[in-house]
Amino acid sequence: MAASSALRKAPPHHCQGPSASPASPWVLGILLLTLVFLPPTSSNTCGEPPRFQSMRPKGDIKSSYNVGERVEYECRLGYSHRLSLPKFITCQENQQWSQISNDTCYKKSCPRQPEPPNSQVNVVNGSYEYGSQIEYVCNEGYHLIGERILYCQVSDTGMQWSGSPPRCEKIMCTPPPNIPNGAHSGVGSDAFEYRAAVTYTCNRASGPDEFSLIGESQLYCVGPGKWSSDPPQCKVVKCPFPELTNGKQVSGFGTKFCYNAKVTFECNQGFYLHGSELITCNDNSTWQPPIPSCLKGQPPSTARSRVLCPSLTSPHTSNPSSSIPSGSVPTRTTSGTSIVLQYTCPHDRPLDLRDILEWILAFIIAVLEL
Ligand SMILES: *[C@@H]1O[C@H](CO)[C@@H](O)[C@H](O)[C@H]1NC(C)=O
Ligand SMILES: *[C@@H]1O[C@H](CO)[C@@H](O)[C@H](O)[C@H]1NC(C)=O
Ligand SMILES: *[C@@H]1O[C@H](CO)[C@@H](O)[C@H](O)[C@H]1NC(C)=O
Repeated sequence: MAASSALRKAPPHHCQGPSASPASPWVLGILLLTLVFLPPTSSNTCGEPPRFQSMRPKGDIKSSYNVGERVEYECRLGYSHRLSLPKFITCQENQQWSQISNDTCYKKSCPRQPEPPNSQVNVVNGSYEYGSQIEYVCNEGYHLIGERILYCQVSDTGMQWSGSPPRCEKIMCTPPPNIPNGAHSGVGSDAFEYRAAVTYTCNRASGPDEFSLIGESQLYCVGPGKWSSDPPQCKVVKCPFPELTNGKQVSGFGTKFCYNAKVTFECNQGFYLHGSELITCNDNSTWQPPIPSCLKGQPPSTARSRVLCPSLTSPHTSNPSSSIPSGSVPTRTTSGTSIVLQYTCPHDRPLDLRDILEWILAFIIAVLEL
């Protein structure tokens, strides 16, 4: 009991230990410094020889070399020795390796490749050196058979390209498909050259309704066995008569409504149009967008409805002088200038610049005649 209480009363231990020790960190420091700055006991040696991408020391590498020792380099795979430059380094008196040029070994090159007929060779990396690429590009109207890119490689027999050069063959197309109720202009030929065109036309219908051509009428040979688009379709397209309660049709009058026929509407006084003012007969014999309706009262929004011309890039506002749906021609009537849609059937062509110019001209004449 007494011993344990005496232990508890003992003064706490000092980490620094006895009073004579404060000098010891200095002694240790000096000792370390001498170790660092004094040359090692095994003096007069060089470290490992420097490494290069193009060459390596021959044989096994040691961690230290004696002064006067020589190390020979050898060129790595794909590199060749430049004979004017020495391949050795020596461990010098100052324990440094003598200089060796990085250019001692240079990259070997593959033989220049001739351009196969109807092609070009692109030197991708600016040289034919080991590891570089060349790319073959066929002239227009030709297509490549084989490897497009070759690499300069090392082989048993020396520097070689990774494969044999490709060849460029003339692009040809087989006849485009035949279609029901129509024919194409290429009948009789069994091969078509690059960019050759065929034109499809629809047959005369035996019934009262003509066939409409839906899709591209002209196809071009654009690649080996590849035409610019799918062939068109020839079919009878007939949209229902466009009826609008509390409103009337204002353009696109006709007795038959074929593919691409366009109709515009107007509502009676006291009604407003809900839906699109302009509708088009699509290839499924339905109106697109659907026939609008006339609702009683004032339009809910303050902005007046806009005429959207699907074949023009920007919509026109319904200002009387600018709301011209595509394909329309102005004509003079008793009430002044009004707009009547041109309506073609069954082959409608898309609006082009000429249509716009023709319309502007007709409009000016109409205005002058007023
Ligand atoms: C040697 O040259 C190559 C390219 O020319 C370079 O990538 C490499 O760092 C150089 N090596 C030395 C050790 O200078
Ligand atoms: C050659 O150029 C290609 C494309 O720029 C690049 O991906 C490739 O790494 C280059 N090769 C060499 C060896 O420079
Ligand atoms: C025509 O109808 C078919 C199937 O009923 C549909 O897939 C196609 O989108 C329609 N075409 C148009 C232009 O509405």
